[in-house]
Amino acid sequence: MFEAHEKSVFDPISIVSAKFMADSRPEKLNLCIGYFESEITKNTGFTVLEKNKKNKSKVGFNILGEESFRDAIKSLLKTQASQEYNLSVVQTIGASGGLWLIFTLLQRFTHSNRVWFSTPTWSNHLEIAKNTNLEISRYRYQLDNHGKLEMDKLIQDISTIKCGDILVLQGCCHNPLGVDLSITQWKKLAQYVKRLGAHLVIDFAYFGLSNGIEKDKSIFLPLFSELDNFFVVNSFSKNLGLYGERIGALSLFSRSNEYRENFEFLAKKIIRSTYSMPPQRIAKEIAEIISSNDLSQLWYKEIYTLRETLLKRKNSLLNVLKNHGLIHIVANPKSHGMFLNLNLTEQEVTTLAKEFGIYILPNGRLSLASLQLENINQLVEAIRIIKK
Ligand SMILES: Cc1ncc(COP(=O)(O)O)c(C=O)c1O
Repeated sequence: MFEAHEKSVFDPISIVSAKFMADSRPEKLNLCIGYFESEITKNTGFTVLEKNKKNKSKVGFNILGEESFRDAIKSLLKTQASQEYNLSVVQTIGASGGLWLIFTLLQRFTHSNRVWFSTPTWSNHLEIAKNTNLEISRYRYQLDNHGKLEMDKLIQDISTIKCGDILVLQGCCHNPLGVDLSITQWKKLAQYVKRLGAHLVIDFAYFGLSNGIEKDKSIFLPLFSELDNFFVVNSFSKNLGLYGERIGALSLFSRSNEYRENFEFLAKKIIRSTYSMPPQRIAKEIAEIISSNDLSQLWYKEIYTLRETLLKRKNSLLNVLKNHGLIHIVANPKSHGMFLNLNLTEQEVTTLAKEFGIYILPNGRLSLASLQLENINQLVEAIRIIKK
């Protein structure tokens, strides 16, 4: 039975990574995963977890997640303007698990049957949605010739959203475009979400990586004046280097206490009957960082260093490309976040892998997180030969 299944439709990151693993050339480079490695320490660059010496032994039976973690996420997401809202936090299996959970809840208990993602988007968004039987629609999220987001196309597409549909917007460092909504654009979209009766889910997988934790959460401000409820999914894969620990959160901002209570009750029901509960120990460690003045300051500093390093890598790459007359292959030099998109054909991407052992995604997305400064010349030389 398994034999009959279609293998071609699957997350391209997994496919490219499998090819990379099978490549025996020592000089090979995997530039498709958004997993940061520091040039200096050769690890995630985050030391803050090791600095936390508190005793973490006592953990409990918490279906919605470790209590101190849930409180810590509340303090992370809260702003002066959020006081009128009930904030509910559920610990999740990374942002992926958070997206799966909110899609499942909305599909099963509110009869949502459609979810909207940007084109382009993180490829796994679509796979997660398929697991929940939601229909998938797309809205255009693209740049004009001046590198500006084409808001009119986005609005045109989402204006056909039906009441109860789910709209997913990426909070910052859009994957893969690297272009984010301005506060005015958030406000405009919130007005549409309200008018159309949609559920807004903010994917905040890169929370903190755009302008730091405090500034990044200012995107909530225009939502408060418009929406009674909205959901935020965040993750510690990127902003604390904990990809393998699978830890994140699904949070609900709601004006209604009853809505919040039902959300928690139903989330509990789904979690208990699937993976029972999320891992508590790592959650406790994260909570201790967020609630300690010294450790949270160190964490913010390390996020800042990560952002600076990504920028340094991008600028170095742009410079070398420019020196070789290849700057035009960069789709948007102003993009920010972990990725840079290159105008390469799928055939050129395949040649890059086959001939040079350099792996990026078929759509030309390159991960600055895994590109080391010392590998930039190797990459550009390969591109130069391909483009000859
Ligand atoms: C936009 C986006 N959302 C969600 C995720 C998943 O994050 P997590 O590792 O926390 O599941 C990613 C990871 O690459 C992503 O790019």
